[in-house]
Amino acid sequence: MLIIFGASGDLTARKLIPALYNLYQEEHLPENFIVLGASRSDLTDKEFRNKVVHESKYLKERLKGKAEDFVNFFADRLFYEDLGKEYDSNYERLGKRISDLNTKFHTENNYIFYLSTPPRIYEVIAKNLSAQGLNDESEGSKRLIVEKPFGYSLATAKSLNKGLQQYFKESQIFRIDHYLGKETVQNLLVTRFSNSIFEPLWNRNYIHHVEITNAESVGVEKRGGYYDKSGALRDMFQNHLLQIVSLIVMEPPIGAAAEEIRNEKVKALKSLRIMNDPVTLSKNTIRGQYVSSVINGEKVKGYREEEGVDPDSTTETYAAIKFFVDNWRWKDVPFYVRTAKRMPTKVTEVVIHFKSPHHNIFKDNDVANKDNKLIIRIQPDEGILIKFGVKVPGQGFKVERANLDFYYSNLVETHVMEAYERLLLDAMQGDATLYARADEVEAAWEFVDPIIDYWKNGKEVSTYGYSAGVWGPSNADDLIDGLSMWRNPGANLADDPGFCVIS
Ligand code: BG6
Repeated sequence: MLIIFGASGDLTARKLIPALYNLYQEEHLPENFIVLGASRSDLTDKEFRNKVVHESKYLKERLKGKAEDFVNFFADRLFYEDLGKEYDSNYERLGKRISDLNTKFHTENNYIFYLSTPPRIYEVIAKNLSAQGLNDESEGSKRLIVEKPFGYSLATAKSLNKGLQQYFKESQIFRIDHYLGKETVQNLLVTRFSNSIFEPLWNRNYIHHVEITNAESVGVEKRGGYYDKSGALRDMFQNHLLQIVSLIVMEPPIGAAAEEIRNEKVKALKSLRIMNDPVTLSKNTIRGQYVSSVINGEKVKGYREEEGVDPDSTTETYAAIKFFVDNWRWKDVPFYVRTAKRMPTKVTEVVIHFKSPHHNIFKDNDVANKDNKLIIRIQPDEGILIKFGVKVPGQGFKVERANLDFYYSNLVETHVMEAYERLLLDAMQGDATLYARADEVEAAWEFVDPIIDYWKNGKEVSTYGYSAGVWGPSNADDLIDGLSMWRNPGANLADDPGFCVIS
């Protein structure tokens, strides 16, 4: 039984129920699976089913042409319980409902509690569940899934971990990071550790620098109120991007078991060199904010004009960070990581820039640009691209750059699970590999905290404006000292940099 707290909210309709529906369709759900939505809205079971299934705009396409019985069978497995005004109340009635459903549907006391609520009430929910004995695993498993943001800073993350761990064991807590549910993020591990052609080169001897871009074309949409207190560093960098970084940086685990992989990821995050002093922070970080512009003939609001945003806000919608990793493998290899809203296109990719051949025998005036690159495209147009030098036909030895590419879309016969599908299924099976452990989250905050603090309290820290729809502020390339510029990728994996959609 999956019990969703905050079930009348957007995430349930937009992500969770569609993910469960896909699992149902692909016959991955256990036979006795049911969902109990719990929230503060007054809804009946029927109203809940209508809201998240029959009348849901997020399922509309998927339900087209499906037999009524097939859809009803799924919808009829969803139930709803009104928690009343407060999450901090007596959960006796909820406990009784869970127990009745458990008896009726033979769910064998196996419960997952999914907290899709504001994080400030996570602990309260855990406390009240525990008061009803709903954390007790003597019969059946009891798991708690929590959504991001997991903490607002190192101190709050620690206190949240401690708070939850009073009522649930660490092994029962599943901290979701939907990037880890993406096939292409998991494929980072496979690319590295199942190929003998990459791993020998995966170090300071061959890698010149690593570049990670996470760009979104949308602005803050309707989430201005939340975003203004968060900013790009907390919203994306501390979690999704540092998760990607940890998979690139980590040492080979001894096996694929959850704890072995997570141990290596924690070690990787702990080896990021923490930047504390203002000079280093000023040299290695850039914060930006989008200002209004015209994109494809349409006027686009600036961040400060968005609903819920303080008109004098200095919150970053663009964050670019350069850092080093203090270990044997990565000594002196710079990492450049940026994340931003209102960029020319939506794209997430990792670029491994290899060093030039140690001894270059072909004279070429653009050697740096023709160095080998491995581009791992996380989204969209998911795939892998290798850039390598080939001879231009004709006299002499002129070198040109060629592409060797692989596209996920070529694997047509495979159903690629969406992130929430994969993560929910893993949690049902008790596999925590793709969930963040407490120490992982804390290690990530440890790195991010001083940057946030410097941006908030440092002297003369600027927030650079950039027109909505361009690749960040005009000084964005300053960070990549001596390396020319960021690889500004296009919508397609093989597009060469420079693609831009503004008009
Ligand atoms: C969320 C952030 O975690 O990730 C959003 O809160 C962001 O601001 C989203 O838009 C991006 O996710 P994806 O999967 O679309 O890259």
